[in-house]
Amino acid sequence: MSLRIRPMEAGDIPALTRMEQEIFSMPWSADSFAGLLTRDYHLAVVAEAEGEIAGCVVATLLADEGEIDKVMVAERFRRRGIAARLVDALLAEAKRRGAAAMTLEVRKSNLPAIGLYERAGFVTEGVRPGFYEKPAEDALIMWRRPTITKCAPDNS
Ligand SMILES: CC(C)(COP(=O)(O)OP(=O)(O)OC[C@H]1O[C@@H](n2cnc3c(N)ncnc32)[C@H](O)[C@@H]1OP(=O)(O)O)[C@@H](O)C(=O)NCCC(=O)NCCS
Repeated sequence: MSLRIRPMEAGDIPALTRMEQEIFSMPWSADSFAGLLTRDYHLAVVAEAEGEIAGCVVATLLADEGEIDKVMVAERFRRRGIAARLVDALLAEAKRRGAAAMTLEVRKSNLPAIGLYERAGFVTEGVRPGFYEKPAEDALIMWRRPTITKCAPDNS
């Protein structure tokens, strides 16, 4: 499978909006996707597989932290490592832009997404009860924080 990971462009919006409607109960509009391209604190990365838009990941950066707002892969392209590649690319770019720690919310029942995030180093730190609608569900709050190297005590 040919796979290209690249920044989102305006021409991707129709395909992303269609995919969004197929996947989510409260889908983002085309305007929401277009807005991502107008503000430099957003990061939006897409995957092109076999010449088609196969998925995307979106984050918002604020000072030295960032939040992953969305990740999705079209059903026919799932379980081929595309989301993992998207998240890895996003985390590398977020780090390059100074976001040392990243967070996100995810439905408690969304085991594929939780597995994806844990694979990328995110750890569950809390629960936000009733955070989601359609259907109502708790959110897990996950963080990926920079590792702090402790210095050995100086006994000299
Ligand atoms: C979550 C989602 C993006 C994963 O996309 P994907 O391209 O299939 O994921 P990958 O193939 O890159 O898998 C990466 C890891 O995620 C986890 N994972 C993905 N799909 C899984 C599944 N069906 N069951 C369990 N774990 C799964 C695994 O840990 C996997 O690593 P592994 O292959 O080494 O086991 C995709 O299922 C999706 O679009 N879901 C609907 C949208 C959504 O729920 N988004 C998250 C909230 S915004």
